[in-house]
Amino acid sequence: MAVLNIIKVGDPALRKISRPIDKITDRIKLLAADMIETMHEAEGAGLAAPQVGVLRRMVVIETEEELTYVMINPEITERSGRQRNVEGCLSVPGEWGITDRPETVTVRYTNLDGEEQTLTGSELLARAICHELDHLDGKLYIDDAIMIDEDDVKEIMYEDLDPQEIVDYVEGGEDEQ
Ligand code: CO
Repeated sequence: MAVLNIIKVGDPALRKISRPIDKITDRIKLLAADMIETMHEAEGAGLAAPQVGVLRRMVVIETEEELTYVMINPEITERSGRQRNVEGCLSVPGEWGITDRPETVTVRYTNLDGEEQTLTGSELLARAICHELDHLDGKLYIDDAIMIDEDDVKEIMYEDLDPQEIVDYVEGGEDEQ
């Protein structure tokens, strides 16, 4: 296994639409293992194949320790509710933003054994699923996020600041211009 290079915003590969995987070859299995190792090394909660320069529809997600999902050809089949929270991306290092995502999503995908799976996730898992699947269509969270600075992130994460307060503040500031 190997830690792969994560490409950064500005690289045109991040804006391309990835191709479906029609056969789970040894090469795909090795890529999945390398993506998991790369995600662990970078301390991320998810990684999509295009972020390591491979334009194929596969993501790895780990929002809970020791619970790693490899999703091949994933598709969201249901969305419900709304959440507004902080997001970051390994391809946009050092940046953070507040995004709106569904509170709960259901995703259908194929696992590495070729089995069809369905998973329903809420909160952080729902955000991660949406974020990683967007990568497969060339979308980055920064396209729709309200970008915030690191102090805001710390207040949200460690002092329970409601992300909405920051949004109100940022939007209020923009109104005055
Ligand atoms: Co990302």
